[in-house]
Order: sequence, then structure tokens, then C-alpha cells
Amino acid sequence: MIRKLLHPAGLISLVGAGPGDPELLTLKALKRLKQADAVVYDRLVAKELLDHAPSCALRYDVGKIPGHHRSGRQSEINELLIRLGQSGMRVVRLKGGDPFVFGRGGEEALALTEAGVPWEIVPGISSAFAAPAAAGIPVTHRGFSGSVTVATGHPQSGAHADAGHDWTALARTRGTLVFLMAVENLEFIVQRLLEEGRDHGEPAALVRWGTTTQQTVLTSTLGEIVTRARVLRLLPPAVLVIGPTVALAHDLTPSGSGPAYLVEDSADISGLAAVGSA
Ligand SMILES: C[S@@+](CC[C@H](N)C(=O)[O-])C[C@H]1O[C@@H](n2cnc3c(N)ncnc32)[C@H](O)[C@@H]1O
Repeated sequence: MIRKLLHPAGLISLVGAGPGDPELLTLKALKRLKQADAVVYDRLVAKELLDHAPSCALRYDVGKIPGHHRSGRQSEINELLIRLGQSGMRVVRLKGGDPFVFGRGGEEALALTEAGVPWEIVPGISSAFAAPAAAGIPVTHRGFSGSVTVATGHPQSGAHADAGHDWTALARTRGTLVFLMAVENLEFIVQRLLEEGRDHGEPAALVRWGTTTQQTVLTSTLGEIVTRARVLRLLPPAVLVIGPTVALAHDLTPSGSGPAYLVEDSADISGLAAVGSA
């Protein structure tokens, strides 16, 4: 009752859950989870994080609604958030990585704004930076790379497989390129970059389930990575990293939380099993 007076329309916290390791949660995110009346969470969120919410909090898994088209599913999620907010609840909308990095957080914030439901953003650690870091790949490094470009490898709905990118500009950048959602479209991405002049021998890596105990790192070259990923039958979620700093992974494998296994280009991978399922 008191809360309804303070927040008659509730409060939706768009919270970044971090890249996968449940310890990579911010203190602010933890605080919001502990106070939540409801948690609405995505597929890539570490399920251990839900234990931080009160046992009586409502839990909604919106990562899997079979048989629904993507955009249809998003509008249902927006409606759910609006409904929960209008009933006066403190809602944690928990999203993998950072909500505003390819997380549709902006779309949800717009829908809430239009419905007059108060919301806030609690940024999270994005896999765009954390997955390469956990694999020993600095996305910038003095003398190697002075910039990093983060792009989607997934075509926008209704768009061509080129995801609406200016591939000439992407290929021309001298810094590190990081593609999220890159596995499905890997061949196309690599082909376009090679066509636009990137070098076949340039270091490239795929980091799957970065920061988690299932982390797998495939280091290769731009010219070879498609074949290597295919042989491994590497599945999402993974980030594709391209650029000279990838070569540092060989010397910078972090101790303690190292990858489940590192597959180097020179390794004989013919006997390896397929790399898990998404
Ligand atoms: C819909 S996007 C969400 C990105 C998220 N908002 C973020 O900031 O990390 C999902 C993509 O993020 C990447 N991703 C998320 N978690 C990952 C992880 N632990 N390791 C590697 N890639 C990950 C994959 O490319 C996956 O297809």
C-alpha cells in the first residue's frame, strides 16, 4: 500500500545481468534483485541470479515462448512489463550483458515511456568486451589497436543478410571488430570483410559462452575461421573478434578462470566432439 503511494505505477528496472559468470553482476543489480516483486528474465541470463530475488517474487521466463515470431514475442514482453508496472510492482527486467547493447532494452524503455510506466536502467557488463577479455583478448592494446567497433552479425528483421552495415567502412577500420550474434551468419560476415580487403591471415577468434565454465575459444585466421568453426560445429552464443590483438590470446590466457579449452588454428581438431548446444 505504502509502495503504491510512492510508485503508483511501479518501477521497471532494466538490469544488465552481465555476460554469463554470475559473479559479474553489479552491486546495484544485486540490490534491485533483492527488492524485486517480479523478475522477467531472458535465456542467456545465469539462472543462479534468480536466487537473489525473494522466494515470493514472481518469475517470468520470457526467453522461450515456442511458436512465436520474434517481433510478436517482443510486443508480448512489452505488454507484460507494462501490466506489472501498472499494478505497482518493483520489476527487474533481467537481460544478458548490457540491456542497451543489442538487448532490445531501448525498445522496452520506449514502450514503458509511452505507457507512462516509470523505468530505470542498471547497465551491465557486455559480452562484447567481457567475452574477449576472458579469452585473453584485449579489445584495445597500445601499438596493436586503438579502436573497437561492435556490430551485430544478425540481419535486422526484414533486412538483407548484410545487417544494414556499411561493409566497406567496417573493413577499413584498423582497430578491433567484434560481432555479436555472428555464428549463424559467420560465412557471410567473413566473406564480405575479405571482399572489402581484410587480410586472409588476420587473427580472428570465436569466444563461446565467454566468462562461464563452458567457455570455449577458437583462435584462427579470418581466412580459416569458417572452416574451423564448421568442423567444431560451434554453436551460439559466441562473439567473433577480428584484429591484431587476437594474437595476444596465446600469451594472455588468464589463470584461474581460463577457458574450458582453447582450440588453436594449428591444433588437430578432427577428433574433437561438437562444441555443445546453445
Ligand atoms: C541478443 S545479444 C545480447 C547481447 C547482450 N546484451 C550483451 O551486452 O552482451 C546475444 C549475443 O550476445 C553474445 N553473447 C552473450 N553472452 C555471451 C557469452 N557469454 N559469450 C559469448 N557471447 C555472448 C552472443 O553473440 C549472443 O548471440
